[in-house]
Amino acid sequence: MNKNIDWSNLGFGYIKTDYRYVSNYKDGKWDNGNITTDETVTLNESAGVLQYAQTCFEGLKAYRTIDNKVVCFRPDMNASRMADSAKRLEMPVFPENRFIYAVKEVVKRNIDFVPPYGLGAALYIRPYMFGTNPVMGVKPADEYQFRIFTSPVGPYFKGGAKPITLRVPDFDRAAPLGTGHVKAGLNYAMSLHAIVDAHKQGYNENMYLDSATRTKVEETGGANIIFVTKDNKVVTPKSNTILPSITRRSLMYVAKKYLGLQAEEREIRIEELNDFKECALCGTAAVLSPVGKVVDHGKEILFPSGMEKMGEITKKLYDTLTGIQMGKIEPPEGWIVTIE
Ligand SMILES: Cc1ncc(COP(=O)(O)O)c(C=O)c1O
Repeated sequence: MNKNIDWSNLGFGYIKTDYRYVSNYKDGKWDNGNITTDETVTLNESAGVLQYAQTCFEGLKAYRTIDNKVVCFRPDMNASRMADSAKRLEMPVFPENRFIYAVKEVVKRNIDFVPPYGLGAALYIRPYMFGTNPVMGVKPADEYQFRIFTSPVGPYFKGGAKPITLRVPDFDRAAPLGTGHVKAGLNYAMSLHAIVDAHKQGYNENMYLDSATRTKVEETGGANIIFVTKDNKVVTPKSNTILPSITRRSLMYVAKKYLGLQAEEREIRIEELNDFKECALCGTAAVLSPVGKVVDHGKEILFPSGMEKMGEITKKLYDTLTGIQMGKIEPPEGWIVTIE
C-alpha cells in the first residue's frame, strides 16, 4: 500500500486511480477490451450519449478483509442489473461473464488503492456504458463504449453513523421516463434539482413517493429504504419504479437467515411512517445509514431510535452485512468473490 492517501478521512468523491478498463462495440460486436491509463473520453459532438443521454451505469465496491484479502461483493448481481439497464435503453449487453472478469482485472491493477481493513473505506468500482456514434433523429446509437474506473471512497453521508434527516420533496425523480429500475444517466439528472434543493434547506436526502398516487414510499436519490416495525419486522417498499438494490436484497436475506427476523417487501403508505421504530437507507454507497427523522411538508416524523445513534435492529443488520463483506462472518455461497 504505497499510495499517499489519508484513508481515514476519505469522503465519497472521485480520486483518479492508475488504470481503467475499456471495450468498444462496433459492427454488432464488442472488441476484446483492454486496460488503459487514459482517464479521458473523446466523443463526437453528436454522440448518442450527449444528445439523448443513452447511458447507464453500475456501482459496487472492493474491500480488504480482516485476513487482508481483496474481495468484491456480489458482482454477478451488478452484471445482471446492467444487462437489464442496457436492454431497457436499447443498448447492446456487455456479456455478464466479461463484466465480472473486467471488474476483477481493474481492481487487481489498482490494488494499491484498495483501502486498509477496518477504516470504513473501500474501492468504489464504476462500470458504465454510453452511445458513442453521431445520432440526429431520436434513435439508439450503433456504437458504444463500456468502461470501468475505480476510486477509493469513504462514507456517503458525512458524520459516519449519525442518523440523517430526509424530506418528502415536491419533485418526482423517476417519473419523466418511468425507468426507475435502471441506473440511467438521465434519471439521475432529473434528481439533481431536488437534491440541491434538499441540501439548501438542511436535509440530507429526499424520500420520493410514487409518482402515480404520491402516497407510497419509494426510495431516495441514491439508496433504497428499509423500516423496522415495533415488533421487529424488517419492511421495505415494493415498487417496480425503484432501483432493485443489491444491498437491500442482501439485507432482507440477512434479516431472515442470519438474524431470524421476519422481512417483507410490501407497499408502504406515507401515513405508516409513524408506526415504525427504525428507518435506514441502504445501498452500496450508503451501506446502511440510519434515518432519524423524515419531514413531510412541515410534518415531522421522528423515529423512536432518535437522532443520536443507529437503531438496535439496524445495527444488527449493519454488523452482519459488513461482517460478511469483511470476512468476519461466513457468507452465503457466491456472495464474496476473491480478487487477490
Ligand atoms: C437510486 C438508487 N437506489 C438504490 C441504490 C442502491 O443499490 P445497490 O444496493 O445495488 O447499490 C442506489 C445505489 O447506487 C441508487 O443510486
